[in-house]
Amino acid sequence: MFGKTARSPKEQMLMNWPERVWIYSPVRVAFLRLHARRWKRLVGPITGGHALEIGCGLGKGAQILIRRMGFGRVTALDLEKTLIVLARRKLPRDLSHRISFFLGDAQDLPFPAALFDAVVNYGIIHHVLDWRRCISEISRVLKPGGIFYFEEIYPALYANLILGPLLRHPTEDRFHGPEFLATLEANGLGLVEGVRTTSRFGIVGAARKK
Ligand SMILES: C[S@@+](CC[C@H](N)C(=O)[O-])C[C@H]1O[C@@H](n2cnc3c(N)ncnc32)[C@H](O)[C@@H]1O
Repeated sequence: MFGKTARSPKEQMLMNWPERVWIYSPVRVAFLRLHARRWKRLVGPITGGHALEIGCGLGKGAQILIRRMGFGRVTALDLEKTLIVLARRKLPRDLSHRISFFLGDAQDLPFPAALFDAVVNYGIIHHVLDWRRCISEISRVLKPGGIFYFEEIYPALYANLILGPLLRHPTEDRFHGPEFLATLEANGLGLVEGVRTTSRFGIVGAARKK
């Protein structure tokens, strides 16, 4: 069905090996902690509640959401089966009743509407082919007043002359800040003022479901 070099829609969204080296590194985990600290300081303390993490990879982010941000429960989802199997295996015993891992697609979240107090995106939406649909799904599963915490990067970073040839990402219909922020707004997700740190390479912020 797909030619020798053509990739299936799913393959286009998965990480290649150079990106895996980065994502599994202790430096990346330090960044996950840094973003959690930033979100907590700016949005306010969290005492319990149920968060969904999309594109959870090996599950380090989900652990940080419990241990450092204060969520009571985390449901974590990824498109790649191997990662879900490894994330379950690596889950510390004391968190096993508070974190659940699921195989699933962030373009079509397998959850009812208004289920979660928060949705967390640690840098996955730029991997998603239909990223607008992904944001509409995030809004759908959030309770009114729930928070979408996001860290995102733009083609200026992941598709530049140096990193572009090294990494694999979808190439059609990508976003920079204006498109990303306009799509949040169009889906009823209002930016939490003062939270946003943005540059030409990416954005860290939070938005509240109206
Ligand atoms: C750049 S990695 C980020 C991993 C982790 N969140 C982190 O920041 O360390 C992107 C992750 O998103 C997953 N992913 C890509 N497209 C997805 C989709 N449509 N639905 C769910 N997960 C997806 C990939 O399998 C990969 O684990």
